Amino acid sequence: MAVRDIKKYPEPVLKKKAAPVTAFDDELQRLIDDMIETMYAAPGVGLAAPQVGISRRLAVIDISSRDEKFPLIVLINPSIVRSEGEIEFEEGCLSIPDYTAKVRRADTLVLNCLDREGRELEIEACGLLAIAMQHELDHLDGLLFIDRISPIKREFFRKRYRKTRQAVK
Ligand code: NI
Repeated sequence: MAVRDIKKYPEPVLKKKAAPVTAFDDELQRLIDDMIETMYAAPGVGLAAPQVGISRRLAVIDISSRDEKFPLIVLINPSIVRSEGEIEFEEGCLSIPDYTAKVRRADTLVLNCLDREGRELEIEACGLLAIAMQHELDHLDGLLFIDRISPIKREFFRKRYRKTRQAVK
């Protein structure tokens, strides 16, 4: 297993719609293991393949640091079957360091996906797990949480981002 480099905003791969996983081969297993390692090393509660530069529909989630009853989850080609309710939560992202913002999402959802062996799964989730799943699914569609905040807040984020970049240079 190896920790991979996490792509940061505004890398183009983060804005791309990822392609479905089609081969459940050794390369995929290695990628999944590396993503798990990378998520724990960061540390983060979720990581999507585009965040390590691989534009495939794959994500890993582990919210056990916040709620220990939840195991590590590997989501491959996930799709939301239904969702309901509304919840607002202060989100962050490993690809956008040092910035968090409140995002509104569905509170409860049912999701279809494949596990790492290619078996079909249906997962019901609510609260933090549902939020994490929607955040990671967004990554697979080239969306970041800053795409879901108000235009005024987004402009504020961009300005602050440009300022910190200039400070680094
Ligand atoms: Ni993220």
